Amino acid sequence: MSRRSGFPSLALPPREPGATASQWLCAALRAAILDGRLPRDARLPATRELARQYGLARGTVLGAFEQLQLEGYLRARVGSGTFVNAVLPDDLLEAPRQRSGRVVRRDGPPPRRLSALGERVRHLPGLESRPLRAFRANRPALDLFPVTLWAQVTSRRIRRATTAHLLDSGPLGLGDLQQVVSTYLTTARGVICEPGQVVIVSGVQEAIDLVARVFVDPGDRVCMEDPGYIGAAQIFEAHGARIGPVRVDAEGMVVPEARLNDARLAYVTPAHQFPLGVSMSLSRRLALIDWARTTGALLLEDDYDSEYRFAGRPLPALQGLDRHGVVLFAGSFSKVLFPALRLGYLVVPPDLVDRIAAAKSVIGQHAPLLEQAVLADFIREGHFGRHVRRMREIYAERLDVLQEEATARLAGLLEIGGIDAGLQTTGWLGGDLEEEAVALAAARRDVEVVPVGRYARRPMARQCLQLGFAAVDVPEIRRGARELARVLEELSAEGPRRRS
Ligand SMILES: Cc1ncc(COP(=O)(O)O)c(C=O)c1O
Repeated sequence: MSRRSGFPSLALPPREPGATASQWLCAALRAAILDGRLPRDARLPATRELARQYGLARGTVLGAFEQLQLEGYLRARVGSGTFVNAVLPDDLLEAPRQRSGRVVRRDGPPPRRLSALGERVRHLPGLESRPLRAFRANRPALDLFPVTLWAQVTSRRIRRATTAHLLDSGPLGLGDLQQVVSTYLTTARGVICEPGQVVIVSGVQEAIDLVARVFVDPGDRVCMEDPGYIGAAQIFEAHGARIGPVRVDAEGMVVPEARLNDARLAYVTPAHQFPLGVSMSLSRRLALIDWARTTGALLLEDDYDSEYRFAGRPLPALQGLDRHGVVLFAGSFSKVLFPALRLGYLVVPPDLVDRIAAAKSVIGQHAPLLEQAVLADFIREGHFGRHVRRMREIYAERLDVLQEEATARLAGLLEIGGIDAGLQTTGWLGGDLEEEAVALAAARRDVEVVPVGRYARRPMARQCLQLGFAAVDVPEIRRGARELARVLEELSAEGPRRRS
């Protein structure tokens, strides 16, 4: 395939049930690039052509191209089209091995036999390498983290480290950290637990994996909010689960309908639904616990960012309302401190502690002890509480600015949803604006918004964007709002025919 010739027609595998058009297209194009059907430097078909060929909205194709550009598989050249990159991200992963001078096979590796999980597991894209800009979701304001203070606590802890810190610990983690986390969760989140029920993990992601390993067999059904957190769905699917999508309304995830009563587990984000941002009402929480009790399912509560509550009375965690031992509660220091820390917790009912401990002991033993000890000091000495209080004020101000800008500039184009907690919110698009087309046009103006349809398994009734407000400062939020207003005005003026 010469560099200049366009692709005649591209044969992609059929869409699997359950995958959104955008997920399917991204996966199919990525696979075609990796197995060489789309060679390096090849030009991709025009988005319009690809959309026509596969009966997709053009916005879906544009969105998939943008995603693959972000992942490093594609590059776009203004006026000449979109091309496969000459160097793929997968090459870069190979590079250190080749540079180290060890054996480099010229004839390629032998055919690999993967396990079913190895076949199913998918890469969860990270955003870390991209510069921070409005409206990055899922990220705290890392420039405001007290790094010097953290360094002081760390160096003091290391100076005082005993051989106990150099030895390994039990699989549940450092006793000291279990203790302070349990006190914190009891007072701040209304969780009811003893320190021995707290399993220290390397973030919610590990907690979900641990729960899936222990409670989900291939073919089992797992209920998930729709739209919901892709990172959780990917783990459950890697373990062979069938996802049962459950609708989300203004009170949070609805109680799963009767045909989903065979589910082993339901994954929920009650404090701040991901990605829509609603807080689950008390009556819904109680109804969900009742559903779990009567069906025998477990509930996995992901409390990933609820420390930041801006409005309303804090509702107790689902776990704190549970009198039947059906809720497992997971949370993380990724959003409240910094994501590179990779520390979080899973609170399990007392009778399940041994099972989880056994699984954790064979999988990864325990999280690094010195970091756990530093974190325990940081919390116990009051730095954690002060940091959360300070950040809550800053994030509340940033959310106010976003809402104020939206009222001034985005009225009729984007309606920002009210949220009570968290680091991001959603905006409902007005008129016939398409979320994928908006995200793409916004990215060209250095503004990041995530189409909520990317998190949905079934078509959404309205087009919606996820907008983070915590990671960047007020001037950047204002810049983002100005640029987004321009994008929405331009797209509205173009009208639906020219846009799609
Ligand atoms: C809803 C949700 N749950 C869990 C996670 C993973 O968190 P952690 O960094 O603790 O693994 C994320 C990450 O962004 C998330 O958005």
